[in-house]
Amino acid sequence: MVRITVPATSANMGSGYDSIGIALELYNVIDMEESDCIDISDKNGQFVPKDANNLIYQCAKRVYDECGKSLRGMKIVEDCAIPQTRGLGSSSACTVAGIMGANALLGNPLDRQAVIDLAATIEGHPDNSTPAILGGFCVALLEDGHVWNVRVPMHGAIDFVVFIPDFQLSTEKARAALPKTIAHRDAVYNLARAALLAGSLTTGKLENLDAATGDCLHQPYRFGLIENGEDIVREAKQLGALGAFISGAGPSIIALVYKGDRDYLSRAQAVCQNKYPHWKAMQLRCDEVGATVKFM
Ligand code: HSE
Repeated sequence: MVRITVPATSANMGSGYDSIGIALELYNVIDMEESDCIDISDKNGQFVPKDANNLIYQCAKRVYDECGKSLRGMKIVEDCAIPQTRGLGSSSACTVAGIMGANALLGNPLDRQAVIDLAATIEGHPDNSTPAILGGFCVALLEDGHVWNVRVPMHGAIDFVVFIPDFQLSTEKARAALPKTIAHRDAVYNLARAALLAGSLTTGKLENLDAATGDCLHQPYRFGLIENGEDIVREAKQLGALGAFISGAGPSIIALVYKGDRDYLSRAQAVCQNKYPHWKAMQLRCDEVGATVKFM
């Protein structure tokens, strides 16, 4: 049996729409072994399909198929802490788990780049799947089945506080809200900020982060789908965040927080409790390890 541990991810980080993402210390842990039938169970009550429609199974099967191996069935036990449909990369984590688990069971016919390429091809969001595999802060773009990617070292002074609502938002719906074309000035607005973000996160030029996470490509169109989303971003900044933005396609919101600000989380939790009872705040560090596979 193999155990695959995959971190949550937050894509976009404001300006880096569809290209920047970060891994966070919240994990899906999946046990997987070949079996005569499909036998899928979960340990913590999230809805997961128990048949051939299960995403982890489908991704594992895809690896077997691409490697020309037959697969009768698989026993999969899911212990998923990443909340579903909240913009924290739960489906990327399952995609990566299926691919890396199957690859390990087959003796690793796919190298790291092939795993990254397949995960992004299946999932469609290299800004989630790449940091889920590599950990850390990543820039990634998918072109003709290949992911051009780099993991960029991140300055140690930054923590993440995630505001998670009790409602879901599907990525399909959040993408459908975006315009088909954008103005040239809007492209330049984000281009400059995404480049500033990568440089500032690496060097720790923290005073740049509010401007660097600014965005006009996706957030203005998505806030209408997230009740109190704009309020949470505003409050997060008023509480002292270095920057705040929608996590992935939403609805969760992430605040970048200076590590020395030890009371930020309790201030954020108090605001949620007093003003936004449908939201809760939790602190997460950047995951530096990425997805791991262990034979048990
Ligand atoms: N970059 C993607 C989006 C992430 O914002 O739609 C989806 O998880």
